[in-house]
Amino acid sequence: MRFDVLTIFPEMFPGPLAHGVIGKALDRGLAELHSHDVREYADPPHWQVDDEPFGGGAGMVFKPEPLVRAIEAVEASVETSGPVIFLSPQGERLTHQLAKELAVQPQLTMVCGRYEGVDQRVRDHAVDREVSIGDYVLTGGEIPAMVLIETVLRLVPTVLGDPTSAQLDSFVEGALDHPHYTRPAQFRDWRVPEVLRSGDHGRIAEWRREQALRITVDRRPDLLPDVELSASETRFVERCLAQKSDREDA
Ligand code: ADE
Repeated sequence: MRFDVLTIFPEMFPGPLAHGVIGKALDRGLAELHSHDVREYADPPHWQVDDEPFGGGAGMVFKPEPLVRAIEAVEASVETSGPVIFLSPQGERLTHQLAKELAVQPQLTMVCGRYEGVDQRVRDHAVDREVSIGDYVLTGGEIPAMVLIETVLRLVPTVLGDPTSAQLDSFVEGALDHPHYTRPAQFRDWRVPEVLRSGDHGRIAEWRREQALRITVDRRPDLLPDVELSASETRFVERCLAQKSDREDA
C-alpha cells in the first residue's frame, strides 16, 4: 500500500511513523510513504501557497492551483491511484469501519490543509473524501494524516506481527477492549484477577467478554447498538445497564 501526503511541511513525515510496527512495515517495504512539498507546485518567483479570502475576513486561504497540480502530479506518477482524501474537521469521522474500507486501497493521496481553510474548488473538484479524526480543530492536516495512516496501515495484513491482535482490538466487534495483565501476578498489593491464572480458557474468554461489555456500557453506551450479542450477553448487558442506572440514581 502506498501513501502520498501533500503538505507544506514535508519534513514532518515520517516523524512518529518511523517508529514501532509502522516504522518496521515501512522499512520492510510492506508500505510506502511519500510526502510532497505543495510549495513546489506554486508559481515562481514567490511560490506563494496562500492568499486573502474573497469576501474579506480574518486569516488566509490555501490557493487552489498548487494543491490541484500536486494532486494531479501524484495521480500521474503512481501505478494505480486510489482516493484523494482531504483531512478536515468537516469530514466524515474516522472510525474502524472507515479505516477498514481504506485499507483495501492500493494507494491514498492525503491533502493537508493549513491556514483558515482551503479554496472550496479543491474540495469540490479534486478531492474524493473528507475525513475528520474527531470533533476538535488542529492547526493543520499533517497530524490527522499521520493518525489516518497509522490506523489504516495496522489493518493491512502482515503489518502487525501477530495477525490476531488487530482482530481483537477495541471497536473490531463493536465493543471496547477488555483489560490486559502480565507478570508479576502481584505488584504492591495489586493482584491480577484470579480467573486469568486459572488456565480455564472458557472462563477466561467469558470474563474478557464480560469486562469488554461492562466497560462499553459504562463509557461508550452509544456503541452498544452495533455490538453483536448472544442471548446470554444481552442479559448481561441489561444487568450492567441496570447497575449503572442504580449508581447514577444513588
Ligand atoms: N484539520 C484540522 N482539524 C482536523 C480534524 N479534527 N480532523 C482532520 N483534519 C483536521
